[in-house]
Amino acid sequence: MDHTPTERGRPSRKAVLRAAVAASVAAPVLLMGVPALARTARSNGVEPELTPECDDGDDPTPPQTEGPYFKPNSPLRTSLVEPGTVGTRLTVSGYVFGRACLPLGGVLLDFWQADDNGAYDNTGFRFRGHQFTDAGGKFTLSTIVPGLYPGRTRHIHVKLQAPGRPVLTTQLYFPGEPRNNTDPIFDARLLMAVRDVGGGGGKEASFDFVLDVPQTPGPGPDPTPTPTPTAKAWAVGTAYRAGDRVTHGGRTYACLIGHTAIRGWEPSTTPALWRAV
Ligand SMILES: [Fe+2]
Repeated sequence: MDHTPTERGRPSRKAVLRAAVAASVAAPVLLMGVPALARTARSNGVEPELTPECDDGDDPTPPQTEGPYFKPNSPLRTSLVEPGTVGTRLTVSGYVFGRACLPLGGVLLDFWQADDNGAYDNTGFRFRGHQFTDAGGKFTLSTIVPGLYPGRTRHIHVKLQAPGRPVLTTQLYFPGEPRNNTDPIFDARLLMAVRDVGGGGGKEASFDFVLDVPQTPGPGPDPTPTPTPTAKAWAVGTAYRAGDRVTHGGRTYACLIGHTAIRGWEPSTTPALWRAV
């Protein structure tokens, strides 16, 4: 959404977000002597990709169909990996925010997905589990990359519920999947950022949810605004990463999927690659 000049004069909501996360999550990590802000600073020191889901705090995560395979009463657990589990190990982590991009603690997340062969366990609870965000709004799920099944691209189902609030049912997607282009349910706004880890073939994914929960942003412990990434003019031949911002035709766009720009993929005509902000 476009910002008014008045809004630009205040610390951005992302600044509030980062300050809140830094205060509530990163500080204890820092004290433990391990890399702080592991989610927002990579080992090579390069600024991370921005999280488009909470860049201005007023675009809640879109809902998606529940599909036919949800089962209530999943076990409380953060790992869906069991002895003998087959599949590419995957860790999904992120934060749950409210409308002001402040983290929400105690949010229920109930995940369910297909196994490595694309099958759901409809008699037991394999690859089903629920958990709650910690006080800093963070969640972590240990699982495997779900297999494909007919008619759908690769995805993970999840229901979220902040205390006393309505349930959000949605799905998470993987970038670079060929079926993303043909699955009518697929929504690029629900793409996770996924990367390979180590040499063992495992993957790490991240996604931040924004729930329609009213919040009043406070001044935050860090009054220094986080610099907004400079939006340069979109240019053919440029390699863009998810989160990059460009200007094109008088508008600013955020990159949803990393790609190299070619003519015909202008931000104004490729909603799968660019989202107007
Ligand atoms: Fe499914």
